[in-house]
Amino acid sequence: MEHFILFAGTANPGLAKAIARQLNISLGECVSERFPDGEVAVRLLESVRQKSVFLIQSTSPPVNDRLVELLAFADACRRAAAARITAIIPYFGYARSDKRHGRREPIAASMVAEVLEAVGIDRVVTLDLHAPQIEGFFRIPVDSLTAVPTLCEALRDRLPPDVVVVSPDTGRVQMATQYAQKLDTSAVVLHKQRKSGTETEVTRIVGDVGDRPCLIIDDMISTGGTLARSIEALLNAGARPDITIAATHGLFIAGARAKLSHPSIQAIFVTDTIATQETDWQQLQVVSIAPLIAKAIQWFVFDGSLGDLF
Ligand code: R5P
Repeated sequence: MEHFILFAGTANPGLAKAIARQLNISLGECVSERFPDGEVAVRLLESVRQKSVFLIQSTSPPVNDRLVELLAFADACRRAAAARITAIIPYFGYARSDKRHGRREPIAASMVAEVLEAVGIDRVVTLDLHAPQIEGFFRIPVDSLTAVPTLCEALRDRLPPDVVVVSPDTGRVQMATQYAQKLDTSAVVLHKQRKSGTETEVTRIVGDVGDRPCLIIDDMISTGGTLARSIEALLNAGARPDITIAATHGLFIAGARAKLSHPSIQAIFVTDTIATQETDWQQLQVVSIAPLIAKAIQWFVFDGSLGDLF
């Protein structure tokens, strides 16, 4: 397998090392620094000529820095004659900007897709993309893996009997259905309305949560506002104060932990797509997605079908 090489950006060295361990390889040697004015400076310390290169970098906060670093690595690989560049972006920042909400607004996800292609990236691999239609912003192949089976494995023995899966908004219904099928239970849907970037409210619950423990699922936890409002609505509707949360991406923006300190929360399961600073949070369970990404890399290297992964 020496004809491919895996480089890691600075977003999440722990995940990159875990993937390399799974593949039984060493990460490619490279440096990423900042000039005093904040500009990104990267350098590859080994040849990539005619090699298949995998660049791993979540575009997590600080999103713009991580994105530019990824672009710089890709540009370096292209100029150094890499045969093929695959960007593994476990968390794809700007994905929530997938449409215009009013006039004179950008579609940032589409803009990101264009710059990724412009620097010579040949394929993108990501995980639980916020909106599947983002794939359509690219002309290159995009593979969106899912953490649902991995999280369900971790959750299976930790959930109370009779748990109901809760989608916190209509955008997550498909994901909630996948959880419910894998966990052999039913799903309910909350109707969420976004009042601002940080404020949401739940206007309706479709389904019965009376005296049921709940598993609220989501693709990401950012400020924690969506979950806090969901818990409030579920408890008001008579749900048991026995709540578990599962989300693929745990951003936990400052203040999220305080919002999620509700006594009814038993555990919060996230994957390691984003490096967490919350090491002393007892309820937080981080499940590694490294085995899945490592398998995907092996599949690409040997031209297998990703369908076999799920
Ligand atoms: C929204 O559509 C997403 O799926 C998440 O529910 C949302 O982005 C989470 O953000 P926050 O934690 O800030 O409410």
